[in-house]
Amino acid sequence: MKNIVLIGFMGVGKGSVAREIIKISEYIALDTDDLIESMENRKINRIFESEGELYFRALEKSVALWLESSVKNTLISTGGGFYKQKNIHKIGKIVLLDSPFKAIISRIKAHPNAVKKLSKRPLLKDLRKAEALYEERRPEYLKIADIVVDVTNKSALDCAKEILKKS
Ligand code: S3P
Repeated sequence: MKNIVLIGFMGVGKGSVAREIIKISEYIALDTDDLIESMENRKINRIFESEGELYFRALEKSVALWLESSVKNTLISTGGGFYKQKNIHKIGKIVLLDSPFKAIISRIKAHPNAVKKLSKRPLLKDLRKAEALYEERRPEYLKIADIVVDVTNKSALDCAKEILKKS
């Protein structure tokens, strides 16, 4: 079993899909943001506020190197900017969860915890800037993905099944 690396924009549902995959397969799961929060013993928002984005990206790099050298048979969900790590293809098979920006925002807003979901993500605070970031990243996501799954209007379970079938 090769690692599966879930990439995609903030709020697209990487965490929800990861939770379904581990329910219906032998994979165990790791999340790059969770690893960073444990390494630093503070939330992503705090890291951005006190140290800035470049510091956070350096933490993502350490996580990427560790995943490449030490992690096998694992489903890895990643933060929306993790795809930029140079060694990402050496970590595992890259699966992009793809959806239009508007659908992603509607999905977040429909969630009972919408306010928390928006406020815990520093790069989603200004939706106009977030949309520009989405437009900039989407072609890059598509370029590096081994498998693309359109998640729009699909349940997390259906996406999970599709990923396991295709990978
Ligand atoms: C980021 C996405 C976030 C988190 C950080 C930066 C990004 O993760 O890693 O706030 O650059 O897109 P999610 O994609 O899980 O929200």
